[in-house]
Amino acid sequence: MYYDMEKDIDHILVGQEELEKICDRMAERIIADYGESGHDLVLVSILKGSVIFTAELYKRIPFPCAIEFMKVSSYGAGTDSSGFIQVHLDLKRDIKGCDVIILEDIVDSGRTLQKLRSLLSDRGAHSVKCFTLLDKPSRRQVDFNPDLVGKEVPDEFVVGFGLDYNEKYRNLPYVGVLKPEIYETK
Ligand code: PRP
Repeated sequence: MYYDMEKDIDHILVGQEELEKICDRMAERIIADYGESGHDLVLVSILKGSVIFTAELYKRIPFPCAIEFMKVSSYGAGTDSSGFIQVHLDLKRDIKGCDVIILEDIVDSGRTLQKLRSLLSDRGAHSVKCFTLLDKPSRRQVDFNPDLVGKEVPDEFVVGFGLDYNEKYRNLPYVGVLKPEIYETK
């Protein structure tokens, strides 16, 4: 018998139907805001957590639109915006003059997107917006707000639909809250 990940989930926070609706709504917004912008649109998906969300959103866009991936880590402490971002995997194209939407699975302290947004703006993009599937505003450490949020979530340990704990649970088809005994040291 295989390891059933479901048994480690305390409860479902965002079910499959709600996730579909969130992606529908975000795609509608992209179509309305960028469909006739006259600039090339580039979606920048932040690995790894955003891959499932990105794929769901991408297939809902009916006009040409490029996709790129970045892998980054942000460092910093406290509530100031000092600190830096380390780029492990960078874009493979020039984004000068493009409309860019950064796609995140979750915003926590806000450091990653705050730094990434200014990094990509500095490369000459026409516009840079940040869309996130989930947002934990109660965890914010810096002054950053995403441009579009799928769903605000409480400060609980969420996994699934791309989000992991120790590289596990990303492939659950919903967002669930992990049972504390899974991550609490015994
Ligand atoms: C998570 C998430 C964001 C970042 C948010 O990535 O996907 O990129 O942390 O945190 P912040 O708002 O405090 O900066 P993680 O480093 O866990 O990588 P992963 O997506 O590969 O799991």
